[in-house]
Amino acid sequence: MTTAARIVVLPGDGIGPEVTSAARRVLDAAASRGGIALDYVDDVVGGAAVDAYGVALRPQTLRLCKTADAILFGAVGGPKWDDAAPDSKLRPGSALLGLRKGLGLFANLRPVRVDASMVATSALRPERVRDVDLLVVRELTGGLYFSRPKRRYTTARGEAAVDTMRYSTPEIERVAVRAFELARQRRSKLCSVDKANVLETSRSWRAVVSRVGQRYPDVACSHMLVDAFAMDLLRRPQAYDVVLTENLFGDILSDEASMLAGALGMLPSASLGAGTAGLYEPIHGSAPDIAGKGVANPIGAILSAALLLRWSLNRDDAAQAIEGAVSRVLAAGLRTADTVRDGETPVGTAAIADAIVNALP
Ligand code: IPM
Ligand code: MG
Repeated sequence: MTTAARIVVLPGDGIGPEVTSAARRVLDAAASRGGIALDYVDDVVGGAAVDAYGVALRPQTLRLCKTADAILFGAVGGPKWDDAAPDSKLRPGSALLGLRKGLGLFANLRPVRVDASMVATSALRPERVRDVDLLVVRELTGGLYFSRPKRRYTTARGEAAVDTMRYSTPEIERVAVRAFELARQRRSKLCSVDKANVLETSRSWRAVVSRVGQRYPDVACSHMLVDAFAMDLLRRPQAYDVVLTENLFGDILSDEASMLAGALGMLPSASLGAGTAGLYEPIHGSAPDIAGKGVANPIGAILSAALLLRWSLNRDDAAQAIEGAVSRVLAAGLRTADTVRDGETPVGTAAIADAIVNALP
């Protein structure tokens, strides 16, 4: 008998609970069809945890996650908690950053694939986005997000603030290795994005990535400056396969890339560390304005569940079953409010999840 995979579910705030429950329904259906046993444990994070326990990420939640095979995460944050200091444990986002750091999830994988039936919904012209299939690999535990010093302070001449961008060679190396390995499983092209004309961390980044690249002679490695890349991503997105970049650039570029796919709500992500246990979450936020209305797009969360099957449970077949079902439902014309076009009627979160369950092979 094989033991059940342990999945920690952290729905969070805003639309997090709605999209996570939709994703869990699809995950359950795909798992049972694939003979995969899952054991769920739920916990509270973000603003919900601030309200219930006075802190966004409880130490026992982090410990629980360390025992998991994978974590299914919704979203955190909302206006109710916005007044907390940026660096405070009362800030919902600190739960996410605390999990990434605490679990050592240094590689954030954000695949951007434009489904054939979503081409017309994209913000760009059809010929620009058709067949886009790229993977952003974002460094997730270093750089400006985490390096110290990081604070606001008062000087004789008034207020000042500092964030620090620091990268060590091992930090760059491990995420670069991950990106080259992934490129090998794809079209064997890797573009590393930095700001080497200005930043020391970027010059170091470029040197380390080039050096790692020598171990992967079969992968075509190029380097691009982040400003030029931001432009080229809209000009010829089909040219890219794996895009490797540091934490802040990856945050910004992955939101930009989501516009190719039609909407932020469509995109999944996986955060991985040294082992296989990963954290899976849609790239969108908690969208408090539409929370609780049953209208949120759950596809980013559902595709995140597919990534969980692929990267933490090593079940590519079950992942593909979900991805295929999503494609078929989109091809049938079902759309949530964020992706409907003029004259179309949107369907709700639960209805599109039901349709995806029914479309599973
Ligand atoms: C993301 C989000 C987070 C980030 C926020 C919520 C801290 O924007 O996952 O992209 O900046 O990493
Ligand atoms: Mg972001």
